[in-house]
Amino acid sequence: SSVFQGRSFLKEKDFTPKELEYLINLGLHLKALKKHNIPHHYLEGKNIALLFEKTSTRTRSSFTTAAVDMGAHPEFLGSHDIQLGKKESVEDTAKVLGRMYDGIEFRGFKQKTVEDLAKFSGVPVWNGLTDDWHPTQMIADFMTVKETFGKIKGITLTFVGDGRNNMANSFLVASAMLGVNIHILAPKELFPEQSVIDTAKYFAKDSGSEILITDDIDKGVKGSNVIYTDVWVSMGEEDKWDERLKLLTPYQVNMEMLKKTQMPDDQLIFMHCLPAYHDTLTTTTHDVYEKYGLTEMEVTDEVFRSKYARQFEEAENRMHSIKAIMAATLGHMFIPEV
Ligand code: CP
Ligand code: NVA
Repeated sequence: SSVFQGRSFLKEKDFTPKELEYLINLGLHLKALKKHNIPHHYLEGKNIALLFEKTSTRTRSSFTTAAVDMGAHPEFLGSHDIQLGKKESVEDTAKVLGRMYDGIEFRGFKQKTVEDLAKFSGVPVWNGLTDDWHPTQMIADFMTVKETFGKIKGITLTFVGDGRNNMANSFLVASAMLGVNIHILAPKELFPEQSVIDTAKYFAKDSGSEILITDDIDKGVKGSNVIYTDVWVSMGEEDKWDERLKLLTPYQVNMEMLKKTQMPDDQLIFMHCLPAYHDTLTTTTHDVYEKYGLTEMEVTDEVFRSKYARQFEEAENRMHSIKAIMAATLGHMFIPEV
């Protein structure tokens, strides 16, 4: 049993800062077990439902491989496979799934859907990304920060791009909880919502984290250890390409921007949650590249392939961190008070 048992992870503040730190460290521990081929069957005999309204490579694969590595059975339920939201309410779906599965992952549009799944299923529910938050990504990303710099508190991270999307929201709150100085570098039109800033400020009072929201590139990146970016148009808002390209083209992460951090090489990394539009080979967006005559978007191929880049370490850490989240909340695992 553990203090985490039976709890859901729907947004960062469902856990305390100390609990988030615990999950990051547990992820690093489970990564070491995997590396040394040591079995970690903390979910023996469990059944896990994986609900996806939006597409996914990393999150789906992480939950699947994590579940199997830990002895559980994962079942993928895409939006075209089940009745959810079409022939059946979220409440009824949750009540049924909760009687069959021991835990539920949900990726989709509304935060309310994942909240309702947790409310009505009676089993732990994990948010694999909604329009508002991407909490499991935070555990992986701060594992990556800790592996690189040996610490989390006191690090400065700049999130560049759409300051109102799920990743920006999650970084504002998670960074403030963990004592990471967080800069949101975005055009004014895409500054974060006040309610998210207020939540971050509340946690920053205790953690000492500094919060900076700016549209000034020099100020936004100076002194930063991590330059982080994400797609300019998130899943579900594909009608916004014109607006976003106009607003965000000046905020492309390139070598010139990295230089503006004025950081020594061993104190600077580039991160991206992926998927990324960094070259014209990204087939799904080919028409967008053609229409706008662009060859690269939120990050240049040069930065993406540079020595600063950590996006594939991050991607791997999704699996280890998702193991930690599932093992802590559902696993046969003793965790003393955190
Ligand atoms: N970073 C991330 O969530 O990737 P997917 O959309 O591929 O799951
Ligand atoms: N902001 C992106 C994140 C993808 C992992 C999206 O929601 O599409």
